[in-house]
Amino acid sequence: MQQDRYSLPQRWLHWIIAALVLPALAAGALFFALGFGGLKDTFGMETTNALYKYHKTAGVLVLALMLLRLVLRIRLGAPPKLESLTPQERILSTGVQHLLYLALFAVPTLGWAATAAGGYPVEFFSWKLPGLIAKNPPLAEVLFALHGLAALAVLGLLALHIAGALRHWLIKKDGVMRRMSLFG
Ligand code: HEM
Ligand code: HEM
Repeated sequence: MQQDRYSLPQRWLHWIIAALVLPALAAGALFFALGFGGLKDTFGMETTNALYKYHKTAGVLVLALMLLRLVLRIRLGAPPKLESLTPQERILSTGVQHLLYLALFAVPTLGWAATAAGGYPVEFFSWKLPGLIAKNPPLAEVLFALHGLAALAVLGLLALHIAGALRHWLIKKDGVMRRMSLFG
């Protein structure tokens, strides 16, 4: 690996996972705001079912790609932090990144388990994946609540993460963005 940026597969994984997580969060926000009934009344049955199906599909893809990403992170590591980072920036960015890893495993795992415990299909495109745990509606309620809370944590962490990245890119102009960029 070049010493000044993440390896190409790590950079691709960063942006592919970002492109899956953001729509999954947006769909989740719709589920939260309108519920299944509200969505059905607004968009119709077909679109509502597709929203759930592709929410689950994107989430399962995130889980699989995060596993690959973790293996690469352990095997290839990360380029050393830039000298331009203050000690506070180092602590904050490392903390946020580690918590993002953790949350990006927790959210889809909880979504999968909650779906199975609710007796709903764990859809992946047009396939049905094994639920892995038995139907248990009271447990599903708890797991769905945890799924929502963990997704809220992802949202908060991403706000910090993206604000930090934009500050380095547009204000400090210190090359942090290049470490993860697919260009140049
Ligand atoms: C506009 C959106 C985003 C920008 C500009 C951005 C930018 C960056 C940059 C520049 C880095 C490298 C930081 C460093 O070298 O220390 C990074 C790392 C990281 N980003 Fe993002 N990011 C964005 C969105 C996201 C999203 C949506 C996620 C999660 C779904 C995410 C998760 C991560 C993680 C976990 C790392 C740590 C990488 C590692 O150590 O393996 N980022 N991001
Ligand atoms: C990155 C991955 C994921 C994100 C960011 C995410 C985010 C969210 C959010 C914010 C909600 C709304 C929570 C609420 O209503 O309290 C939600 C609901 C839901 N999620 Fe996910 N989710 C992800 C993965 C998954 C996976 C993998 C599955 C199942 C295989 C899943 C199944 C569901 C279902 C069925 C609901 C509706 C819950 C309800 O209507 O009460 N999610 N998700």
